Amino acid sequence: LPLAVLVSGGGSNLQAIIDAVEAGRIDAEIRLVLSNRADANGIERARKHGIPTAVVEHAAFASREDFDREMIRIIRAHGAEVIVLAGFMRLLTPMFIREFAPNIVNIHPALLPSFPGVHGQRDAAAYGVKIAGCTAHFVDEIMDNGPVIIQAAVPVMAGEDGAALGERILAYEHRIYPQAIKWLAEGRLRVNDRHVHLEPSDA
Ligand code: GRF
Repeated sequence: LPLAVLVSGGGSNLQAIIDAVEAGRIDAEIRLVLSNRADANGIERARKHGIPTAVVEHAAFASREDFDREMIRIIRAHGAEVIVLAGFMRLLTPMFIREFAPNIVNIHPALLPSFPGVHGQRDAAAYGVKIAGCTAHFVDEIMDNGPVIIQAAVPVMAGEDGAALGERILAYEHRIYPQAIKWLAEGRLRVNDRHVHLEPSDA
């Protein structure tokens, strides 16, 4: 399965996916790591592993459509068919999503549909929930809304702030996101009426 991984920052989820692919746990090939920021650490991580990279600076484009069109062009040029959002902090246009749907996935640091948005872990801590977590999901045209593939529950510790909770959640993201991509690569995920069903493996 040819993947493009889109990052804006640290790229620790990217790293978890790279490690799973290199270890042979996921039957996929990362054709491209694309970032909207030249200084994204994810770009550096990709280079270290000999993975092609591209930087498309969103500020250089007049509209979201123009930005997305350029990303589509580069992604297609690398032969990627599945989009893996891994801390990509730009909203994608419906045009981009229609181009690749249903083959777009995202990782979110909260138990959706609770706490969508850019600060899911912080918002969960501020709300005072006792169980936080993370969600790997298909992407549709509404932010943090698509069908849920897998979630991990992370109990909140007494007195824990958003940053500490976020770090512990991140460790679970690194476990569930490669798992979701593995299932996707195996062709085992069926979506029916927004419910994701996991087909049994052949093995
Ligand atoms: C993660 O918390 C992810 O859930 C969110 O952005 C963060 C990215 O972290 N969407 P990293 O760049 O993968 O380290």
